[in-house]
Amino acid sequence: MSNCMTEGGLDATVSAIRKIHEKRGKTGSAAPGYYVQTFGCQQNEADSERLAGLCRMMGYRRVDTPDEADLILVNTCAVREHAEKKALSIIGTYKHIREKNPDLLIGVGGCMVTQKHRADKLKMSYPYVSFTFDTGAIHRLPSLVHNALTSGARQFVISDEYGITEGIPLDRTAKHMAWLSVMYGCNNFCSYCIVPYVRGRERSRKPEDILEEARMLIADGAKDITLLGQNVNSYDGCGMDIAELMHRICALDGDFQLRFMTSHPKDASDRLIEAMATEEKIVGHFHLPVQSGSDPILKAMNRKYTAEQYLEKIEKLKKAVPDVSITSDIIVGFPGETEEDFEATMDMLRAVRYDMIFSFIYSPRTGTPAASMPNPVPHEVSTARFERMLALQNGISDERLSRFVGRKMRVLVEGVSKTDSGMLTGRAAPIRPIHFAGDTSLIGEFADVEITGTSAFSIEAKLI
Ligand code: SAH
Ligand code: SF4
Ligand code: F3S
Repeated sequence: MSNCMTEGGLDATVSAIRKIHEKRGKTGSAAPGYYVQTFGCQQNEADSERLAGLCRMMGYRRVDTPDEADLILVNTCAVREHAEKKALSIIGTYKHIREKNPDLLIGVGGCMVTQKHRADKLKMSYPYVSFTFDTGAIHRLPSLVHNALTSGARQFVISDEYGITEGIPLDRTAKHMAWLSVMYGCNNFCSYCIVPYVRGRERSRKPEDILEEARMLIADGAKDITLLGQNVNSYDGCGMDIAELMHRICALDGDFQLRFMTSHPKDASDRLIEAMATEEKIVGHFHLPVQSGSDPILKAMNRKYTAEQYLEKIEKLKKAVPDVSITSDIIVGFPGETEEDFEATMDMLRAVRYDMIFSFIYSPRTGTPAASMPNPVPHEVSTARFERMLALQNGISDERLSRFVGRKMRVLVEGVSKTDSGMLTGRAAPIRPIHFAGDTSLIGEFADVEITGTSAFSIEAKLI
């Protein structure tokens, strides 16, 4: 598929939609509202900013609640059953809004509806859903909206067009924080994971397009940029690897910090580790999901590394970046996981001493190899293991965090604390939010603080 925004007549479709709004007297402050509800990972957050950008182009204005909207878009996730259930239940609540506003369009996109059985379910059981579209069809949103407004016919698109579409405008949610997709898709086919089936094969954006977008984001006030890809280490921009791309971005003018996610351990390269060690703008946080500490389970998961090989990478990383914060994803209760396998994962946590982990109970995904593997782990066994793991990790996280107490640190002030409206929240390499007293004029700026203490969910600091 082409690497540029050439979808036939996008501009023509957009102006046709604007004309429809005009005819209905819906312009200016009476412009129709759009509301985007996002589930899932940062990739979906980034896609939603593009959906929002398209909505703005089509003459919609952003509203704060679904009740005020004339166009509701739900960007779904399929990674675990819980994510799908949550999306379906939210969509269910929109039925009442549609009853009050018959002109309301409800569109569902993202990973869940890229699976045919889920798109079919929406078609059959959710008659108030106007259209669904797969993860490769974001640029088709205007034509879907146009058809819905003109013919009213329901549309269910699974295009399998997993390309790269440049040139879609962004409507960003947080001015000082930005997502920057560098590659899409995944070739790894971990046996439990739905992502390769709903995001297509790996493809990288051109370095010049990424650098141009980075410049634009910095000019627009972004001070914390996260490079996104299912496996950023596989970035291959016409021969340029992720390390070189990060060096080039760091060389851009501006006061900003750079992050990246996610890295697959099998190809987390020495060059990337070195980039983190040498570039001041790269935040010292490495998210390197291990999934399990047991070799037989890693093999069944098709992860392509052993626990020992993973630990070697971690040692390299710790040597090159001594203060690095390391985080991980872990799956508990993969089919066939024995007590011994689980203990190997616990040993992995003790050996690495992660700053934080994201842990998940295994959820079978239709169409993946693991879904038909024998010896499922009973739910109560998985839950008990999950709790044991959290207890172990909480102790490790607290201990790791204590290393920051007494240190001076530069943080990006994100906003007012969610738990204490008198305090500000900031972000730096330690992965928990940093709370400190300060004036709201600092929001969106960097500030120097001294860490004074830590608690279960946050870090306390004072301005210096
Ligand atoms: N591309 C990233 C993230 C993939 S999804 C990576 O490879 O790390 C995020 C996390 O969800 C995964 O790391 C994994 O821990 C978890 N996950 C994926 N499929 C799952 C499933 N079927 N059940 C439970 N957790 C799952
Ligand atoms: Fe899923 Fe594995 Fe790809 Fe990550 S690397 S998205 S876990 S298949
Ligand atoms: Fe979910 Fe799709 Fe991301 S399945 S985790 S939204 S890639």
